[in-house]
Amino acid sequence: MSEKRELRVEKIRDGTVIDHITAGTALAVLRILGITGKEDYVVSVLMNVPSGKLGRKDIVKIEGRELSPEEVDKIALVAPKATINIIRNFEVARKEAVKPPSTIKGMLKCQNVACITNSREPVSPIFKVEGEGENLTLRCYYCGTVMNRDEFLKQF
Ligand code: CTP
Ligand code: ZN
Repeated sequence: MSEKRELRVEKIRDGTVIDHITAGTALAVLRILGITGKEDYVVSVLMNVPSGKLGRKDIVKIEGRELSPEEVDKIALVAPKATINIIRNFEVARKEAVKPPSTIKGMLKCQNVACITNSREPVSPIFKVEGEGENLTLRCYYCGTVMNRDEFLKQF
């Protein structure tokens, strides 16, 4: 095959490339990472890029910042097939699959209005992660209410 006419987004020198993100969830990934666009580093977001493996995928490139393992694992909630590529001097120095943490603290709200985490008590939500991939669900540690993927995606 001939050379591609152009690269959509050029290779980065140093930083993190989050590849194979479930199409349509790049913005949720940015929210999980707390990236608002007000940071001083360059962030490139590609959505609905054609991909052999997934049909379509999203990609996020963060220049000059290497993500920590805790941040990376939370990404698995919304993008279970994501790969994290740490880039150093233009080379892929490390490539890792994301793996969901066993519990999620803070971040999300329980859907049960009567749950203690929605009362005036100073109790912050904790969820137990159950199932995997697209079927991953979150069970409230306090009241047992279960949130499925569509339900927790809405909160990001
Ligand atoms: N990448 C980048 N800048 C670099 C090196 C790589 O932006 N300096 C990006 C690539 O464009 C790709 C991802 O990081 O989206 C992973 O790079 P690489 O491992 O070279 O690509 P693949 O072999 O296609 O990855 P995989 O096997 O994970 O599909
Ligand atoms: Zn609850």
